[in-house]
Amino acid sequence: MQIKVKEGSLLKEKTDVILLEHFEDDKPFAGETKKVDSLMGGLLKRAFQNGEFTGKVFQKILFHNRGKMGPRKILWVGLGKKSKWNLELTRQVMGKVSVFLREQGVQNFSTKILGASTGENDVMAIAQAMTEGIILSLYQFNVYHTEKKFGLKKMKQVTILEDLQPSKVRSGIQRGKIIAEATNFARDLGNHPSNVVTPSRLADEAGLMAKTYGLRCQVFNQKQMEKMGMGAILGVSKGSLEPPRFITLEYNQEKQKRAPIVIVGKSVTFDTGGISLKPSAGMEQMKGDMSGGAAVLGTLRAIAQLKLPVHVMGILPAAENMPSGHAIKPGDILKSYSGKTIEVLNTDAEGRLCLADALTYGSHLKPQAMIDLATLTGACVVALGEHAIGAMSRHPQLLEKLKKAGEQTGERVWELPLWEEYDEQIKSDMADLKNIGGKGAGTITAGLFLQHFVGNTPWVHLDIAGTAWVESGKPYCPKGSTGVGVRLLVDYLTQASEGKK
Ligand code: BES
Ligand code: MN
Ligand code: ZN
Repeated sequence: MQIKVKEGSLLKEKTDVILLEHFEDDKPFAGETKKVDSLMGGLLKRAFQNGEFTGKVFQKILFHNRGKMGPRKILWVGLGKKSKWNLELTRQVMGKVSVFLREQGVQNFSTKILGASTGENDVMAIAQAMTEGIILSLYQFNVYHTEKKFGLKKMKQVTILEDLQPSKVRSGIQRGKIIAEATNFARDLGNHPSNVVTPSRLADEAGLMAKTYGLRCQVFNQKQMEKMGMGAILGVSKGSLEPPRFITLEYNQEKQKRAPIVIVGKSVTFDTGGISLKPSAGMEQMKGDMSGGAAVLGTLRAIAQLKLPVHVMGILPAAENMPSGHAIKPGDILKSYSGKTIEVLNTDAEGRLCLADALTYGSHLKPQAMIDLATLTGACVVALGEHAIGAMSRHPQLLEKLKKAGEQTGERVWELPLWEEYDEQIKSDMADLKNIGGKGAGTITAGLFLQHFVGNTPWVHLDIAGTAWVESGKPYCPKGSTGVGVRLLVDYLTQASEGKK
């Protein structure tokens, strides 16, 4: 699909559909709408007067053109109240419109810069948000359907008309396209089953990316991990026939002398729970337990394409969590890469074991900042559902930057405390730490567990258990893997690169 910018009038567009917008609290018949209405013999006015269309957000009404204009049809879409309009709604409206039009068999449509009359955002940011809305909403995962009935309809081209600042719109489209496609790449990794996306496959993807974009990739295999003493992640992987991989991928634009920003993604390619086996209903969703790692790969791909002036090290501790004769058992004690010992009281709390070693490795790099993303706790799904990422940190400044990126991208983060008091819950009689914290505050005790492996590094933990997967779809995210984290991290890293100037 192509998204392009062009100068000219909507009315002259020779296209399947043109998009006409309307704010609920605006005068309905001014400018282009007025012209369209009169060419349509007052049809729009009638729809408005009889209350069929008011301009409520997401409301839409489709008219066939009477042959007096270029386009075949006109879609009138509501943008809601002017005061509520923002970039997130821009993505959502574009998303809903794109999916609706694709369903109608429409292959191309033209639109102006959405909601420009509010003067709130610059056209580059709007064009980026529109592009993201289009590409993210039209995502389909159908590689395993052998009969090509599924997802046959395809949008071919969207044209954004802009006379004043076409070059800004062009850059917005370019940026939006890179970021949305990187998100869709992360979604693919989450949607592929675990017999395809194994730890070795993740390593191959990282290697391929390194080749394509000139990144530095290092993959440690099981033997090397044993030598290094990564006992925590090796414990998780022990029950599986899939060998683990410890993957690092480095992007260093300008060969900066500056310390890296480390991003770590939980990469459990399937989480059965191990000997503390999960119930079978819904277990298939655990193919997405590597969504943190997918977000890290997607982020690196995007920043490499954007050529951001930052130094970033991505880390994916990849393993599969299986029960077997070789698997770790409740009560087993593991020696982590940091040297700290961990009593495993529940083999299903495996994510924090993998992350413990990865965070130790990351903190040894003396980074400016370290961020991890992990589908870590069911408790986070209970607490925040699918609309917020759980964030924990003892570095308010770093956390603030992620909150800001969350507002900007719609991948919002919500803070939970990392108070010392909770530490009692993860003290073990047998070892330095235990891997579960009892009944209360499951998301926080998981975060606190990780805190023990980061030293003094400025660090933020993001629990994406609720946001990495959606059951019924959202305005610009079909059901399944969401690719959450890519847009958030790219936005944060963009902030970081600008701060440096
Ligand atoms: N991967 C799961 C967490 C999860 C649950 C992610 C639901 C997405 C949706 C994690 O490894 C896990 O099993 N956590 C346990 C921890 C518990 C044993 C302390 C949980 O949340 O039940
Ligand atoms: Mn688990
Ligand atoms: Zn897990």
